[in-house]
Amino acid sequence: MRVIIEKDYNDLSAWAARYIANQINDFKPTKDKPFVLGLPTGSTPLATYRELIRLYNEKYVSFENVVTFNMDEYVGLDENHPQSYHYFMWSNFFSFVDIKKENVNILNGMASDLDQECKRYEEKIKSYGGIDLFLGGIGVDGHIAFNEPFSSLTSKTRVKSLTKDTIIVNSRFFDNDISKVPSTALTVGVETITSAKTVIVLINGHTKARALHAAVEGPVSQTWTCSALQLHKCAILIADETACDELKVSTYRYFKDIENSNLDPDTLLKK
Ligand code: GLP
Repeated sequence: MRVIIEKDYNDLSAWAARYIANQINDFKPTKDKPFVLGLPTGSTPLATYRELIRLYNEKYVSFENVVTFNMDEYVGLDENHPQSYHYFMWSNFFSFVDIKKENVNILNGMASDLDQECKRYEEKIKSYGGIDLFLGGIGVDGHIAFNEPFSSLTSKTRVKSLTKDTIIVNSRFFDNDISKVPSTALTVGVETITSAKTVIVLINGHTKARALHAAVEGPVSQTWTCSALQLHKCAILIADETACDELKVSTYRYFKDIENSNLDPDTLLKK
């Protein structure tokens, strides 16, 4: 596991965007061999999307041969609902880059057969040979995508009931009214995420400090599904300083020292 500690949210987002752009560029994707990118929603990735749009406008990166799979979607919200993850992705990212509509994959929370929709999604991911890079955020309880505490660490895409905690936290997007928050969602599984070749997770702010501690220093446990990343060969957690509040000083220093000897994002950008 690699833990990148950046000063603040802006630096964390710039690091993530540059890393993603460099991965796409190094891959040299073509129509027949596209780069497969897993994507999250939430407030955390917003600045990463803004930075990716900027890098696209600077002609540093193109999404023409990138295929995307989103992590999750609420059940019962159609794609034009302002809080649907379809709407989020088009209004915050896809509309501003050269991605092809047919290359965008988002679970359909309105499907008449939700189990079949989840199966179809897993099969489509497989048809591309898996996900090259999965970008994720994290919930305050350590959930990745909508893999709530006690989700199986070998889970695949499926329907999940949301915990009361998640419903309360996400109610900020629904007029602070918990009755408006869907109680179920479709989500990729923990194993769908950990099957990606690279996983990067963005963790910012003090409210995520316990989740970062669990992901890095805790045991691998279904209680904190983010801890499954400890078993991944190439997992990168990108945190800001305040998210490190629950880490041991020695853990913090270890990762800071390692990264000081690695390339900084500007060097990567010029690569
Ligand atoms: C939701 C999403 C997750 C996201 C989490 C944190 O529950 N399903 O994918 O990581 O919220 O969101 P935020 O970035 O807004 O804190």
